[in-house]
Amino acid sequence: MPLGFFDINTSGRIRKIIDDNASITHTFLAHQLPDLSGTFLVPIAAIILIFTFDWQLGLACIIPVIIAALIMSYTMNTKGQEFMRLYMNSFEEMNTEAVEYVRGIPVVKVFQQTIYSFKNFHKSIMNYNKMVYSYTMMWEKPMSFYTIIINSFVFFLAPLAILLIGNNDNYASVLLNFFLFVLITPVFSQSVMKSMYLNQALGQAKEAIGRLENLTGYETLAKAQNPTPIQDFSIQFEQVSFRYPGATQNAIDKICFSIPQGQTVALVGASGSGKTTIARLVPRFWKVTEGQVSIGGINVRDIDPKELMKHISFVFQNTRLFKTTLLENIKYGNANATLQEVERAVDLAQCREIIDRLPLGLDTKIGTEGTYLSGGEQQRIVLARALLKNAPIIVLDEATAFADPENEHLIRLTLKELTKGKTILMIAHRLSNITDVDRILVIDKGGIAEQGTHNELINRKGMDVE
Ligand SMILES: Nc1ncnc2c1ncn2[C@@H]1O[C@H](COP(=O)(O)OP(=O)(O)OP(=O)(O)O)[C@@H](O)[C@H]1O
Ligand SMILES: [Mg+2]
Repeated sequence: MPLGFFDINTSGRIRKIIDDNASITHTFLAHQLPDLSGTFLVPIAAIILIFTFDWQLGLACIIPVIIAALIMSYTMNTKGQEFMRLYMNSFEEMNTEAVEYVRGIPVVKVFQQTIYSFKNFHKSIMNYNKMVYSYTMMWEKPMSFYTIIINSFVFFLAPLAILLIGNNDNYASVLLNFFLFVLITPVFSQSVMKSMYLNQALGQAKEAIGRLENLTGYETLAKAQNPTPIQDFSIQFEQVSFRYPGATQNAIDKICFSIPQGQTVALVGASGSGKTTIARLVPRFWKVTEGQVSIGGINVRDIDPKELMKHISFVFQNTRLFKTTLLENIKYGNANATLQEVERAVDLAQCREIIDRLPLGLDTKIGTEGTYLSGGEQQRIVLARALLKNAPIIVLDEATAFADPENEHLIRLTLKELTKGKTILMIAHRLSNITDVDRILVIDKGGIAEQGTHNELINRKGMDVE
């Protein structure tokens, strides 16, 4: 999947599709499919048995079975499938909304709202409720009729048996057959019941597989046909436009710029102007809509994804630490790093004071026993992770946004030290923060409004990005 896939598909939704639908398919294959043979074989054996004993009584038994089967097949096939689809749709929607609601509970409480303020969640519950209710009501008459018929073999058998006894000298044998039949016939109702549940399970399993296939059928990033190794770590954007799936206008439009190897370019601009979008196109989060993004003159599409990821370090705007030790969190950047290298990255990213404060140092687990880090602290740990990777291209999306002025200053010094010889695309929110980069691009509404060095931009007094 392109990395951007995880932007659109919420984690709750992906988890639910994989988890629930795999379990539905599993239940069908492992438990219900083996039942299928029994469901078919038992009634066939019973029919052979009763016709061998007495074909007339046998015929009387078959009548209710046929009527019941007709009722079932009518309701199951026409409305059943359609209902199953709607049912699973609304179930999925209710689930997704529930996750959203649970996540939002703090906000709901602070603003003293109730569940009714979560209109979508409430609506999805009512929707589900309405559908299940109407489906149940639809079954009211056929199901009652069916239950009566399938349990009334004696009603069909008894008159015939009386008739037969009257016309037959050997009434003892007719009577014995009659009792035998009364004992055997419940097999039919059980089988029809079972096949009904099976049919329902089959419908569910079909739907589930469809949903899984939808997920796995999402357009993956095309693999490079003849992957070209990267030789030079410059970055070029040529007439790059990009539109988010479903959006009505381009998030960025005809962007052109390049960063020679070893230089630093900073993007500044208003919120929503497209800075993050530009940065994300370098590690190929998305397929560009137009133009091309290249590294060392090679279109990123023609670079093997693994090779691409190996050479780019990315600090996201919304950082993420895993619920494990700090050491492991940092080592995500480079699993083979020695402890010394980790310590160095910690120092460079100004994380030393955070780690010294924790009882177990680098071995402290995040998120357990009250060990939580502030946004700025997390950002610095993530920075250490990115530094440890030591990739030739570094993309920093507001890496210092959460830092206090003092730390920000230290981090900038570090970055300067560390990024020597590396190609850097960084996003900053204040022009004053980035006095020492090679070039600054001012992004406005998806395009480049101005560019130049810090001094040039200050002297020109163009857009107000201070
Ligand atoms: N996943 C997405 N799907 C659809 N539209 C998006 C998505 N992410 C961003 N956008 C839109 O693209 C535009 C550019 O967003 P982008 O995140 O690149 O802005 P930004 O310059 O990084 O802003 P900020 O300074 O607030 O981080 C915005 O108008 C935003 O609404
Ligand atoms: Mg952004």
